Amino acid sequence: MRAILSEATPAARDRTRRIWCVHSAAEALNVLRDLSETPTVSTLALAFQAANHELALVGGPVRDAFLGRGINDLDFTTSARPDQILALVEPVAEAVWDIGRDFGTIGAQIQGERVEITTYRSDAYDGESRKPIVQFGESLVDDLRRRDFTVNAMAVLLPQLSLIDPFGGIDHLVAGRLVTPAPAEESFGDDPLRMMRAARFVAQLGFTLDEHAEWAMTELAPAIERISAERVSDELVKLLSTDSPLEGVRLLVSTGIADRVLPEVSALRLEVDEHHHHKDVYEHSLTVLAQAIELERERHPDAEPDVPLRLAALLHDIGKPETRRLEPGGTVTFHHHDMVGAKLAIKRLKALRFDKETTAHVARLIELHLRFFGYSEGVWSDSAVRRYVRDAGDQLERLHILTRADVTTRNTRKADRLAHAYDDLERRIAELAEREEIEAVRPDLDGEQIMAILNIPAGRLVGQAYSFLLNLRLDEGPLGEEEATRRLRAWHDSLAGNESG
Ligand code: CTP
Repeated sequence: MRAILSEATPAARDRTRRIWCVHSAAEALNVLRDLSETPTVSTLALAFQAANHELALVGGPVRDAFLGRGINDLDFTTSARPDQILALVEPVAEAVWDIGRDFGTIGAQIQGERVEITTYRSDAYDGESRKPIVQFGESLVDDLRRRDFTVNAMAVLLPQLSLIDPFGGIDHLVAGRLVTPAPAEESFGDDPLRMMRAARFVAQLGFTLDEHAEWAMTELAPAIERISAERVSDELVKLLSTDSPLEGVRLLVSTGIADRVLPEVSALRLEVDEHHHHKDVYEHSLTVLAQAIELERERHPDAEPDVPLRLAALLHDIGKPETRRLEPGGTVTFHHHDMVGAKLAIKRLKALRFDKETTAHVARLIELHLRFFGYSEGVWSDSAVRRYVRDAGDQLERLHILTRADVTTRNTRKADRLAHAYDDLERRIAELAEREEIEAVRPDLDGEQIMAILNIPAGRLVGQAYSFLLNLRLDEGPLGEEEATRRLRAWHDSLAGNESG
C-alpha cells in the first residue's frame, strides 16, 4: 500500500520556499479516496461500520493529504472502546499489539500495513506526574479538541469520507499557522512536549506559531522538565532531521524552552560588543547548521538526515561562552573552546540520553573542528594529513562537512580561499589513500614481531615500542619490515643507553 500512497501523493514540495504547498481540496480528496480504497483501510472501515461504530482517519494522514506530503502513519480514532476494537480487529489482522490498551490504543497489522486505532479520548492530565488521566470520550469533536494543533485536529470519517474540521484546521493549513484547538496554556499544560512539537512543525512545515501559543510556550517553558529526557531528545532529533530546522531552534531559544533542554545553545547569545571583536556566536552556529545541511544534501543526496553531524554543527562552539577572554588590546579569544565544547556536549547529550555512539561522534567532531584552520596558513606535511585522517577515524566525512560549513565569513575572497584550501586537503587525503591505507594506519610491525625482535615478554615496553612505530608510520609513511626493524632496534638501544647513562 505504501507504493500506492506515495504515488497518490506526489511531492508537492517547493524547495525554495521550504514549505509544503497546500493541495487543492480535489487533490486531497483523491488521495483520501485512494487511501480509503486500499485493502487495509477498506477492511477496517467495513468492520467498524458493520458493528455500528464510528471510525475516522485522524491527525497526520489527514493533514498530510492536504499538504501533498507522503503519508506514513495510519492513525484512526473511533467510538469503540479498546475491548471492542480488539474484537473487531483480531479476526482481520495478521498481528495485534495491545500495549497501549490502557490509553485506548490498539496497534495492528492488517493486509501488510501497520495501523493504530485509538478510542475517542477526553482525558485530562494531572499536571504533576507525566501521565494523562485517561478518560474515554463520547464524541469525535471532543477527541479533536484535546489534540495539539488544529492542523492535526482534523478527521475523515470512513467509509463516507466526510471531513470533520471543527477548529479551522484547513484555514490554518492554508494560512500556514499553528494554532491550538483548546486555549494554548491548557493544551501545553496537558502535554508540555507539544511545545517542542510546535518548534518541529514550524521547521518541518514552514508554519508560523500563533502569537498566543508562543506567549503560552514562554509562560509554560519550565513545564518541559516534566517530560522524560528520552521524549525530549526524540523530538529534538525530529526537529534536527527537518530540511530547515533553524526557525524551530530559534523558537525553542526565544521562548526559553532551550534554557531547559539545551541551555548551551541559549548561552551562545553572547553580547557582541560595539567594536565587533567577535561574531555573534549564536547566529554563526545557526548558519553553520544550515550550511552543514546544504553540504550534506549536495554530497549525499539520497542519504537520511545526518543527526550527529547536525548536532555537531549546532553545538560546535558551545565551549565559547566559558572560554571567552578579553585580551589586553581589546581582542577576544576563546582558547581551547574545542576541548571545552566537546566535554560540554558529552554532558548534555548524556543528560538527554543520546546513545553512546552518537555522543562520542559529536564530541569528536567538536574536538576536531578547528584543526583544519592551521592548514591554510602553511601547507601541512604528509604526517599532519595522516594524523588528521587518523584522529577523525570514521568521522572524517562529517568532519569535512562540518569544517567547510564553519566558514561563515561575508568576505567572499576569504571564504573562497578557505574552500580551496579544503579542496586541496581532501585531494591530498585521496592521494595518500591511493598510496597507502591511511584510514587504518598501523605500524609496520605488530606486537608479536616487536616481542620477537627485541626478545622481550608482553608488557608496557611492547606498548611503548608500538606507539614509537605508529608515530614513525604517521610521520614517514610505510617503511617496510626491514627498515622498521632497524629503527625499532635503534630506539630500543637508545632506551638502554639512556637508562645506563
Ligand atoms: N498528538 C497530540 N499531542 C501530542 C502528540 C500527538 O495531540 N503530544 C495527536 C495529534 O493529533 C497528532 C496525532 O496525535 O496528529 C498523532 O501523533 P504523531 O504520530 O506523534 O504525530 P503526527 O501528527 O502523525 O506527525 P508525525 O507522524 O509527522 O510525527
